[in-house]
Amino acid sequence: MNKENYIAVFDSGVGGISVLRHLVKALPSERFLYFGDSANAPYGTKTKEQVRALTFAAAEMLIKQGIKALVVACNTATSAAIEDLRKAYPKMIIIGIEPALKLAADKFPGGKLGVMATPMTLREEKFARLMERFDESCDIFKIPAPGLVELIESGKADSPETDALLRELFDPYPELDALVLGCTHYPFAAKSISRVLGDGVALLDGGDGTARETRRRLEEADLLAPASQEGYVLLQSSGNTEQFKFLAQKLLDK
Ligand code: DGL
Repeated sequence: MNKENYIAVFDSGVGGISVLRHLVKALPSERFLYFGDSANAPYGTKTKEQVRALTFAAAEMLIKQGIKALVVACNTATSAAIEDLRKAYPKMIIIGIEPALKLAADKFPGGKLGVMATPMTLREEKFARLMERFDESCDIFKIPAPGLVELIESGKADSPETDALLRELFDPYPELDALVLGCTHYPFAAKSISRVLGDGVALLDGGDGTARETRRRLEEADLLAPASQEGYVLLQSSGNTEQFKFLAQKLLDK
């Protein structure tokens, strides 16, 4: 393993770019290889076995390119496959992302907390275990949001269509103190979400925590890139490359 190698960042599409933004800030000298599996998005409405197979295929393809760490910047893929990936690649630094429920419970003790995520993330055992740790001290509402990823993938994160979908989605729930954005696509719809819920509801996600954990793991393994190295991002996609690059660059702010 080599300090100059890429850190691979993987998601079903452009969602992981919300995590990549934090990674680039936390690790400015690193070279990132971002892979969006757009041809197979969305993952969140597939079965666990399908998502597990897609995640393994992406991980293998990225590991073959000579990377020093893999960030699974997708809550759905993390819940389907992270434990098996770590078993299959014991020497690789593999970081996953999970809904930032701990952060929300720490900030709003006893609060009403919504967790918005894909149907798969919310039905998986990994989330059940996470929820068990906090559901005695807080009121937790699971809010699956099918359809939202597709709108974000088509460049409509901040649009009347997204507002309409969210209005219907949040209608059955009581007023929340905080909403955990448990899918890496959702931070891109933050404006729409706040328009519908009101500015008083805090929106929390795991992007910053994941970037800090990646930095910590690289430091621990003495694999941080030399400070003199110029960091950059390489974008790859299994879908329409031009369309993917256009949207990814816009979301990355580059
Ligand atoms: N961005 C992914 C996540 O964090 C999943 C989106 C999808 O359904 O493909 O869960």
